[in-house]
Amino acid sequence: MVYALAYLAEKKADEEVDAVMKNAGSFAISVAIFAGSLVFFTGSAHREAHAAGAPDIERGHDYFDQECSTCHQAIKGEGGDQGPSLIGVVGRKAGSVPGFDYSKAIKAFGKVWTPEQLNTFLADPPTVVPGTKMSINVGDAGDRADLIAFLASTKK
Ligand code: HEC
Repeated sequence: MVYALAYLAEKKADEEVDAVMKNAGSFAISVAIFAGSLVFFTGSAHREAHAAGAPDIERGHDYFDQECSTCHQAIKGEGGDQGPSLIGVVGRKAGSVPGFDYSKAIKAFGKVWTPEQLNTFLADPPTVVPGTKMSINVGDAGDRADLIAFLASTKK
């Protein structure tokens, strides 16, 4: 650009060069504004994804290992059997793992574990299913979203 302008400067009259310089200047300013707004845009998009709690399967897996795996399996062979297996729990009917000794309450509940139903249940199990033996609650909505994303990723 500088070379091109220098070349033009030799060729053209002074006023003409001035005009070119002005254009080049405002072009540079537009580029700077564009680049600035791009940085702002990507920055805020990133923040919004986190604020909306975009589910994180890895975090959900960690949470499960810490809070649920003493009683439940979500990966075959990993976890306790005090609670029913949660492998493939999303889409499964409540209280339906063959051979597990469920409470009457959860068998009578009769709902399918959709992500929404799990979200409500895990926030406060004894309120959603009075009389259930499942007493662990997950108070934070972001933790529940991560956990449910992880459970949804488990397959038989
Ligand atoms: C102290 C043991 C224990 C812990 C820890 C525990 N649970 Fe449970 N969970 C149970 C038992 C027992 C049941 C069966 C409830 C019943 O029969 O009423 C159950 C049932 C469930 C069910 C219903 C399953 C079905 O087949 O209908 C879900 C979902 C569940 N637990 C999720 C979780 C999650 C997620 C965590 C971790 C945040 C967790 N549980 C932690 C013992 C536990």
